[in-house]
Amino acid sequence: VSNQESSIRNELVDGVGGVCFVPSVMERWRELQEFQARPDDTLIATFPKAGTSWAIEMVDVVRRGGDISGCLQIPSMMRAPFLELNPPPPFPSGQLHNQPSPRLIKTHLPFHLLPPSFVDQNCKMVYVARNAKDTAVSYFHFHRMNKKLPEPGDWNQFFDSFLTGQVAWGSWFDHVTGWWKEKNNHRILYLFFEDIKEVRESKKLDREAVDRIIEHTSFKNMKQNPMTNFSLLPANIFDQSVSPFMRKGEVGDWKNMFTVAQNERFEKEYRQLMSDRGPSFRMEL
Ligand code: A3P
Repeated sequence: VSNQESSIRNELVDGVGGVCFVPSVMERWRELQEFQARPDDTLIATFPKAGTSWAIEMVDVVRRGGDISGCLQIPSMMRAPFLELNPPPPFPSGQLHNQPSPRLIKTHLPFHLLPPSFVDQNCKMVYVARNAKDTAVSYFHFHRMNKKLPEPGDWNQFFDSFLTGQVAWGSWFDHVTGWWKEKNNHRILYLFFEDIKEVRESKKLDREAVDRIIEHTSFKNMKQNPMTNFSLLPANIFDQSVSPFMRKGEVGDWKNMFTVAQNERFEKEYRQLMSDRGPSFRMEL
């Protein structure tokens, strides 16, 4: 795919309640809020880079009873359309409305900005949270390669933006705690990236199906599979020569990026921004 086509990076716009978004999200805000969820929709919700595509792949292959054939033929973007963003060409927009039930829907929205119909319809929601430090590093590399996001600046500049919530979809702190507070009020399964990394087992399906799911959703296989590694997106959108979408998939990669001073500052702010009753994360395994 051509790397030559020009692509202009977006600046963020102030969205609702101080949460920043890429402009295309705000352009369809009203339509988005009127989105009609169906009772059998499953929402996969995350702060960006928390393992969204991993969760989609696991939920999708589980609901296919361990049959991976569909997962190898249909891009992740079409199996779980993005609620607040239309896919870029060559993918058709408006996929969600045409999707047969039961739908799998991806979102990065904070809980309080979800279209109300998801709660009204009592939809199942799977939230995946990843520790702040690994999320920050992963989001930095994603900004480098995703030409639809603002220029991240150098790591030190991005570190600052992340910590102050001046990144697309807002503050990581507000996001993970906002969903955490609601998890017992609605049908929300709140999962941690670190736990999924550590234990990838289920007892509800037969052993062979579980093995297939574990194998299909391994980092290595998802990195090789064009349906999950986003190689179908042109380089003027995702420039994977800068940083691959399936980058490392580790817990604790932040240690390769954070300076000692950054870590101290991060820890200090973290204690202030995260309440004792919020989710508790593992920064290493
Ligand atoms: P890294 O950048 O740390 O490698 P999202 O899908 O929300 O954009 O998240 C992307 C992050 O999840 C990337 O993290 C990616 O490597 C990681 N990831 C995706 N699939 C994975 C898998 N099967 N195993 C481990 N990590 C995975």
